[in-house]
Amino acid sequence: MNLYSAMTASRGQTGAELDFRSDTVTRPCSGMRAAMAGAAVGDDVFGDDPTALKLEAEMARLLGKQAAVFLPSGSQANLCAALSHCGRGEEIIVGRGYRLYADEAKGASVLGGIGFEALPIDEGGALDPEAIEAAVQPDDPHQAISRLLALENTVSGRAIPLPRLQDCARAASRHGLSVHLDGARLFNAAAALGCSVGDLAAVADSVTVCLSKGLGAPMGSVLAGDARTMARARRNRKLLGGGMRQIGIVAAAGLYALAHNVDRLPDDHRKAERLAHMLAVLPQGTCGWKVSQATNMVFVTPPSGQHARLAAHLAERGILAGGSPSLRLVMHKDIDEAAVSTLGQALLDFAQTLA
Ligand SMILES: Cc1ncc(COP(=O)(O)O)c(C=O)c1O
Repeated sequence: MNLYSAMTASRGQTGAELDFRSDTVTRPCSGMRAAMAGAAVGDDVFGDDPTALKLEAEMARLLGKQAAVFLPSGSQANLCAALSHCGRGEEIIVGRGYRLYADEAKGASVLGGIGFEALPIDEGGALDPEAIEAAVQPDDPHQAISRLLALENTVSGRAIPLPRLQDCARAASRHGLSVHLDGARLFNAAAALGCSVGDLAAVADSVTVCLSKGLGAPMGSVLAGDARTMARARRNRKLLGGGMRQIGIVAAAGLYALAHNVDRLPDDHRKAERLAHMLAVLPQGTCGWKVSQATNMVFVTPPSGQHARLAAHLAERGILAGGSPSLRLVMHKDIDEAAVSTLGQALLDFAQTLA
């Protein structure tokens, strides 16, 4: 069962405000809504929307790239990147658990005739540079053509250090591959690693960043890269039905998020650390609980056979969580300290029932 089929319930069903399923569940604050209402707009397909143009320029600047394209979602941004780097019969080397390979319906294969070579990821979520080099196909008509290395950061909350990303990127470029970085939560990675998003983006030719996760915008992602690749991405966005019109309304939410919601991301990481700390008293080990935390995410695996009971216990208390066999508990701007305490106590109470 994956994350989505294993959600405890929906907010509509329970009216719950203790929603730990994802950082995508945040609602725009009144300041963001005011910025959206007041946004200058135009037809973006005609290149006329001043607020979308401003957001794209700002993201390109932050990420150290020549150009950027605003898209409705992270999935479409990754797909546009794949279609812009690769042609039919070409191949992407990617981590087996990475979103582009595992959770985007193999869109690149379905729509672009692009293959995948999926490699194992280590405990920290990273790829092994030697495995990347070994996965590059020889120049042989029996094989697909290796064209792109797809990296991700953060990976299920885990921030991959810059030197490891650089080693992976170097392994790819030794064989003439381009590099795409799925940085849906790149600002979380940068906050955790103490570097800038530009430092991390520098390893890649193109990078996806989502505004609709920890940054709190209602929708939108940005793909940034060199001018030629972004021109192709803009064509591919239209091809995919992602050419939008007066999107200044949502681009304004993205600009508001960059101005107000980046500096607060470490608060989400601290809330996740506090929850993990509360749960450190649980008996951990082979037959016990397993708790891990990275950036804004906490993964809690109850003792074997207890997942369904635990999910029901949380749902009864109005707490929403997702994932099986591990519950994924995600901190975000609409979760306050009291909510973290309520969740921690609910998990400790459940553990008591097993004692
Ligand atoms: C790492 C990563 N990449 C891409 C996406 C896709 O973003 P979206 O849900 O906007 O399509 C997600 C969504 O959770 C993600 O976690």
